[in-house]
Amino acid sequence: MKNNIFNKNIKSILCLTGAGVDAESNIKTFRGSDGTWEGHDIYNVAHPDGWKRDKDLVNSFYNERRSHLLSPSVKPNKAHYALAELDKYFEFNIVTQNISDLHKRAGSKTVIQMHGNLLSVFCENNREHIFEWKKNLSTNDFCPKCGGLLRVNVVWFSEQVLHMDKIDELIKTSDMFVSCGTSSLVAPANTIVEIFKQMNKPTVEINLERTVSSDLFDYGLYGKPATVSVVEFKNLLLDK
Ligand code: OAD
Repeated sequence: MKNNIFNKNIKSILCLTGAGVDAESNIKTFRGSDGTWEGHDIYNVAHPDGWKRDKDLVNSFYNERRSHLLSPSVKPNKAHYALAELDKYFEFNIVTQNISDLHKRAGSKTVIQMHGNLLSVFCENNREHIFEWKKNLSTNDFCPKCGGLLRVNVVWFSEQVLHMDKIDELIKTSDMFVSCGTSSLVAPANTIVEIFKQMNKPTVEINLERTVSSDLFDYGLYGKPATVSVVEFKNLLLDK
């Protein structure tokens, strides 16, 4: 049944995405059975202490993910394309926790990668020295500008997420919030819904199953994969 939150006054939408949106593109989610964090210790591969202890281990973890992302088995899916299509009708801004480039490949105009980007590296001496990177990274790779050691441009636990100023601005100016395919277990992404609630603006959650935050959302699409439910969400917005 159509809910009255899908009304004609919605002009701008902030869309948060997580690993569930990439899942049907053959990229593993993080939690749950067979998730990435089942087979790897976060403190070894996604924490600055792990990097200090064993840089080769960290590089090989992300090298494997980068080459998989660039392999022919990974392509944008119907959920990415449905979200990209919404650019035609709304000011549609995607804030993603995903480090893949699948939203961009599907053609979305604004994609803010709050947890970084697997296809770039930055220099340990200067965070602003950022370079596109599509091959394997090793401890013999140094910054072409200043010679510092290069590391993957991914946010690790205990580090600050990226682009928070821009995200705060979008939170203030968007008419609706939709959260797709995230477990809502990681801050600060999981706090956005509460800010929209305080502003009395509509919120929608799309997920295979209910999450710890589901009670906070005004409307939910559950029980179906993102390739189906994101298309349903698009149709609700477009009144089809
Ligand atoms: P999670 O692995 O925590 O959660 C994935 C969510 O997607 C779950 O709620 C699943 O129910 C849902 N899901 C799985 N398959 C789906 C499908 N086909 N369609 C729709 N939903 C599906 O991933 P995130 O919430 O994205 O951070 O994780 C957030 C952050 O935690 C990640 O960015 C990463 C991780 O640690 C860092 O590495 C810094």
